[in-house]
Amino acid sequence: MKKPILPGEVSAAVVDPAAYGEWDGLHEQLAWARANAPLAVAENPDHDPFWLVTRHADIMAIGRDPQRFASAIRPTVLTNREGEALARAATPGNDGHLIRSLVQMDAPDHMKYRLLTQSWFMPKNLKIVEERVRHHARAAVEHMLSLGGECDFARDVAAHYPLRVIMDILGVPAEDEPRMLMLTQQLFGSTDPELNRNKVEITSAEQAIAMLHYVIADFENYFRELTADRRANSREDIATVIANATIDGGQIPDRELAGYYMIVATAGHDTTSASTAGAIMELAKNPALFARFRDAEAEKAGLIEEAIRWTTPVQHFMRSAKADVDIGGQTIREGDWLMLNYVSANRDEAIFDNPFAFDPDRAKNQQIAFGFGAHVCLGQHLARMEMRILMEELLPRLKSLELAGDPARVESVFVGGLKRLPIRFEAA
Ligand code: HEM
Repeated sequence: MKKPILPGEVSAAVVDPAAYGEWDGLHEQLAWARANAPLAVAENPDHDPFWLVTRHADIMAIGRDPQRFASAIRPTVLTNREGEALARAATPGNDGHLIRSLVQMDAPDHMKYRLLTQSWFMPKNLKIVEERVRHHARAAVEHMLSLGGECDFARDVAAHYPLRVIMDILGVPAEDEPRMLMLTQQLFGSTDPELNRNKVEITSAEQAIAMLHYVIADFENYFRELTADRRANSREDIATVIANATIDGGQIPDRELAGYYMIVATAGHDTTSASTAGAIMELAKNPALFARFRDAEAEKAGLIEEAIRWTTPVQHFMRSAKADVDIGGQTIREGDWLMLNYVSANRDEAIFDNPFAFDPDRAKNQQIAFGFGAHVCLGQHLARMEMRILMEELLPRLKSLELAGDPARVESVFVGGLKRLPIRFEAA
C-alpha cells in the first residue's frame, strides 16, 4: 500500500516553530489531519520524512508498544538532517544522542534505569518534599505580590518557581542554578549565536561539535563532583539516589550518570512553567472561574488537569519503528520515523467533548500531555503537586486578576507555552 502524504501546508506547519508560537492556525491544520489523514507522512525539504500521528488512540497504541516503536535508534525530538548528522558525528558509537537519558533508552536499559528513581517520584514519597515545595511556592507568591499589582507572570513567576523546586529536590544548591541554566542553554542553543558558548556564528559542523564537547564535559564535571559529595554525605534528594545506585552490579557509567541528572534537571522546569502560566491565563480571562478557584476550600485537581491538557507543554516526541506494524489503518515500515503530536491528541474530538473549550469540570480528563506507556512522564505527580500548591498559596491571596496585555507563546516545536503573560492583580 502507498503511504499517504500530507498536504504541504500541514507538513510545513508541524515543523515550524512560528506555527507553534501562533497556535490557532496550527490547530486548524491538526484538526484537518485528524479528520482526513490521521496517520500520514509529512515531507519537508530539511527533514527526513516522518509519519505525523495526530489521534489520541494511535499515540496510545504506539506508547503501549515500545518494543516495536523505539526511542534509541533516531532522535526522540524532531531534528533536521544536518542536525542529526552533526549529533551522530559528536556521539559515541554515532548513536546521535548528545545526552543518553531515560528518554533515549529502550529495553532492557530503560527499565533498569527508570526503576532507580521511579518510587522517588510516586505520590507517597513526594509527601516528604511537600513542605519544601510549599516553601518555594510561598516565596514565589511573595515575590509576585511585591511587584505592585502588575507583572509578566510567565517571566516573573512561572519561569522561576519550577526551576527552584526541581533544583532543590535534585540537590543543586541555589547558587549553582545560574550555571545550570547557562549550560542548558549552551547545550540546546548550540547553533544560536546569542546562546552558544563562544557567542559566535556557527560556520561548520566541526566547530559546533567542538563546542558541544566542552559543554557536555562541564556538565559531566559538575555532576561528578555532586556524585562524589552524595556518596560521602547522603541527603534527602535525587542526587543521593542516583549517586548511590548501581546498574548490573556496578556504578552508573559517566555518560548515563550525567544524562540522568540532566533529564531530571531539564525536563521538570519549562514544562511545569508552561502549564502553570496557562492555568493563570485562563483564570485571568474568566472572573467566575477565578472566583471559584480562589476559594481556599475549592478542589484544584480539575483545574490543574485541564490546564495541562490545554497547554500541552511537551508538544511532541519522536519514535522509530523497529519492525513493520499495521496501525490506524496504515502499514508503518521498519526504520520509519514518527512524530507523536500531543498538541493534536489533546484536542481529539473522539476523546474530548468540546475540545476547544477550557473546562475544569470534565468528568474524566484523558489528557495525554505526559505521554503514555513505558516512557510516561516520571515527574507527572510532582508537576501536578507543584501546580496545586502554587494555586493553593497564590489564589486566596488575590482579590482580583485580569490580563493586562496580550500573552505571547514561545516559538518552539518541542517544549512550548507562554513566554509573556501580562497580568494585573489586587492583593486580598
Ligand atoms: C506539565 C509538566 C510536564 C509535562 C507536560 C511533561 C511531559 C513529558 C512527556 C510527554 C514525557 C514522555 C517522553 C517520551 O515519551 O519519550 C516525559 C518524560 C519524562 N519526564 Fe516529564 N513532563 C512534565 C514535568 C516533568 C517534571 C516536573 C519532571 C521532574 C523531574 C519530569 C521528568 C520526566 C522524565 C525523567 C521523563 C523520562 C521518562 C522516561 O523516558 O522513562 N517531567 N515528560
